[in-house]
Amino acid sequence: MIPAMHSSDSLRTLTEDARERSFALIADLSDAQLIGPRLAIVNPLLWEIGHVAWFQEHWVLNEGLGAAPLRPDADALYDSSAVAHDTRWTLPLPSRSETLAYARAVRDGVLERLRRAADPELLYLTLYAVFHEDMHGEAFTYTRQTLGYPAPRLPAEAIEPAGPLPGDVEVPGGHFLLGPTQEAAFVFDNEKWAHDVELRPFRIARAPVTQAELARFVDDHGYDRPELWSAAGWSWRAAAAAEHPLYWRRSPHGWERRDFDRWLALEPHRPALHVNWYEAEAFCHWAGRRLPSEAEWEAAAAGEPAAGARGLSSHKRAFPWGDEAPTARHANLDGRGMGCADVAAFAAGDSAFGCRQMVGNVWEWTSGAFEPYPGFTPDMYRDYSQPWFGTHKVLRGGCWVTRGRLLRNTWRNFYTPDRRDVWAGFRTCAL
Ligand SMILES: [Fe+2]
Repeated sequence: MIPAMHSSDSLRTLTEDARERSFALIADLSDAQLIGPRLAIVNPLLWEIGHVAWFQEHWVLNEGLGAAPLRPDADALYDSSAVAHDTRWTLPLPSRSETLAYARAVRDGVLERLRRAADPELLYLTLYAVFHEDMHGEAFTYTRQTLGYPAPRLPAEAIEPAGPLPGDVEVPGGHFLLGPTQEAAFVFDNEKWAHDVELRPFRIARAPVTQAELARFVDDHGYDRPELWSAAGWSWRAAAAAEHPLYWRRSPHGWERRDFDRWLALEPHRPALHVNWYEAEAFCHWAGRRLPSEAEWEAAAAGEPAAGARGLSSHKRAFPWGDEAPTARHANLDGRGMGCADVAAFAAGDSAFGCRQMVGNVWEWTSGAFEPYPGFTPDMYRDYSQPWFGTHKVLRGGCWVTRGRLLRNTWRNFYTPDRRDVWAGFRTCAL
């Protein structure tokens, strides 16, 4: 259940790092910004910090170790399964300093227990809470984008230009084992477990769709032509009055996009970003392409050609480049560059078939619905996946600000098909 590579020492480091990152992602915001407007797609950041601490306290200290809650009101404030989303702005939330003090106290309680004990259950729950916090950290960043706040002030490296990467690669069909095998270190319930699927050979783009490619669709009246959209996509477009991608505007010099609180000229070779599933689908119709299925995406990322034969090898890679954990050479992750890189960057992260950036840079929509794998049973946090089956679409690969420690080729993210606020783009397949 618990990956052998995690000791209580390494989990102490992760626990401290995750909380420091959460604090850094909101440190520069005013108290008013920490509440923000009531929107269906964001949480008040002050609530979300408290929620992250509550989740850790609930699972590690209360459920895991039987400790009494630090705040008697914590469940009533921060339990996301019980506190309706649109009430989170009017709760009697503790002040900023009280919320941060609570988050520090919970963290210190966990660190203290890790110093004394290292039973597998404690390590598992601690790691789960770190990953939960990592996911909310990504939400803090897209909330800041949604609300037009400045980019978080994290130390950032320059992103060097690398250009486009056109063309497809061919992936052989055959048996493919979708999902992680049971030796995998740590996986979420929705990934369990590897099961055989049959794939036809297919051709998939080496890189995600770029901003320049998306601009061609927009300039060819892509948002005005119902024949390019599915019925559901066209009703979304009409209801949202979407005339172009979110955060885009026309200027005398061409399209610009808003990056946090700044307007920039399009970055032609960086991936299209903030595209929802319907927009991706319409682009595909226009381009004579289609979205990959989850199994195709995973085979392109994790598969290897069978030696001396047609089809896919039975060996799967944990990451596109192999089994080594992500580094700065392989993928754009962890907010290291504070934005996307050109799609030709990170050649060292290519998959066996030559697909680039399948991990990092931008989340990639896949074609089908988010469904349980055969034999699914929920983990202890029962609402992680189960409530969202059937209504959500799956995204793969992580984005520029996803924590690398969270990811692997089999990782399934999921959002409803209308969400444009997340760091999502897509890669296409030949028909
Ligand atoms: Fe949560």
